Amino acid sequence: MQKGHDSTHDASGDNRPEDVPVRRIVSGIQPSGRLHLGNYMGALKNWIQLQDRFEAFFFIADWHALTTNYEDTTPIRENIREMLVDWIALGLDPEKCTVFLQSDVLEHAELNLLLSMVTPVSWLERNPSYKDQQTQITGKDLSTFGFLGYPVLMSADILLYHADHVPVGLDQLPHLELAREIARRLRHFYGPVVPEPLPLLTPTPRLLGLDGRKMSKSYKNCIYVSDSPAEVWEKVRPMVTDPARVRRSDPGTPEKCPVFNLHQSFSPPDVVHDIDKGCRTAGIGCIDCKKVLVGHIESVLAPAREKRQEISGRKGYLKNVLADGAEKAGNEARRTIRDVRQAMRLPDGNIFE
Ligand code: TRP
Repeated sequence: MQKGHDSTHDASGDNRPEDVPVRRIVSGIQPSGRLHLGNYMGALKNWIQLQDRFEAFFFIADWHALTTNYEDTTPIRENIREMLVDWIALGLDPEKCTVFLQSDVLEHAELNLLLSMVTPVSWLERNPSYKDQQTQITGKDLSTFGFLGYPVLMSADILLYHADHVPVGLDQLPHLELAREIARRLRHFYGPVVPEPLPLLTPTPRLLGLDGRKMSKSYKNCIYVSDSPAEVWEKVRPMVTDPARVRRSDPGTPEKCPVFNLHQSFSPPDVVHDIDKGCRTAGIGCIDCKKVLVGHIESVLAPAREKRQEISGRKGYLKNVLADGAEKAGNEARRTIRDVRQAMRLPDGNIFE
């Protein structure tokens, strides 16, 4: 097998086992509960496309959830289940990619520990999202070891799988840079161990919520992937459009309208074009425009609804998905751990040999 790399791949330090394909990706999401359309556009839609082009590992980062939610852990279990159902309902296919739960693969914790030994605290303290979150998330004590070490655990998630690429949004780039720095530091101390992963930047349109702010669970302005058609309509119908468009005969400005923002993500280009024109010329009213939008949102949600129904009828299915995923991911992870222990000359049950 040719051990070639993408021209963009910084392969120095890569001692990838021969049978590990070059184009491998890994990504995770914290189990925050049901997915909303912003999550779909920002991650899942992309993952679903990538699963056909890469060997992909996708996991639910439940340990990461603890870094900010360690006091009340009760929602985590339910959130894991909901997230898994949404992933599969939307089209993530466990036959095509490896879907697993982070905490099912204990090697994430072992590599996290080993990486933590070589990671200077100053690298973590200067991470912009560490500082941002400390100031933005109020009401939680984030002065913990685990929260500071968030990107080390994330680096372990990535390096365990010899990932070439990590599909993430812009906000995750500092973490990924740290993973690269850690991979280099391992190489510096112990020789080639794991490759340096590259980001695969997800084009993330800024999806607006029902109130025109960014769609976010904390703003309670979301349309959920699991909403019924009636719920979607009940949410979209009262949305405030361009405030200048008071009467049906007033022309509107689509850029000022959160309904138009959603059209841009969910409606095909010709529809977006017609809506744009119709709005500016008062050719279409807001309610009709919203009906068209809901139709296109439904073309994503309806198949997901059907799939969800199907999954719920398959007893033990989700449990099996995670069990299979943990086995596949675990095999890869154990191999990496063995290599890392060897490179670091650590005991491997064989100190007398
Ligand atoms: N930090 C990521 C987020 O909040 C989640 C995550 C954890 C992740 N481990 C990862 C993403 C490894 C990519 C690779 O979205």
